[in-house]
Amino acid sequence: MSHARYPEWQAESAEALIAPIVANEPGPVLLCLQAVQAHFGYVPGDAVAMIAEACNVTRADVHGVFTFYADLRDTAPPAVPVRLCAAEACQAVGGRELKAEWAKACGDDADLATLTGVDEPIFCLGNCALGPAALVDGELMGCADVARLKAAVAQAQAMGEGA
Ligand code: FES
Repeated sequence: MSHARYPEWQAESAEALIAPIVANEPGPVLLCLQAVQAHFGYVPGDAVAMIAEACNVTRADVHGVFTFYADLRDTAPPAVPVRLCAAEACQAVGGRELKAEWAKACGDDADLATLTGVDEPIFCLGNCALGPAALVDGELMGCADVARLKAAVAQAQAMGEGA
């Protein structure tokens, strides 16, 4: 399933993204990785090799930078990613219970699970006063519960299909 927000991976597009970064920025590896992920939603292995060659460093060097930054991913994102805050303030107001309820909802609904992907923990969204907090397709939600998450997922999916 592709993500409506991102185009399919294309080496030519990635080359066009990273060439000006390599030409103009000192230490361009991270910037290249971020540019590819911003455009395609992830950094495929082909891009790691491409960035290594363009920056005249080894693949291991690029991989080292890639693995250091938890927000960089090497697989395409789900269509409507859902991430629940796993930090303390949200845990104190039901975040742990919400995580379990969301896991059950996804376990009961294979389509929902496929649509939203793995709930990769995220630590503090800066919305602590309105916990538990979540990100639904990159949009911040406070006072999250399963019903509101499902509604937001449906809305994001509808918007993605309309795009
Ligand atoms: S702890 Fe969850 S938003 Fe800050």
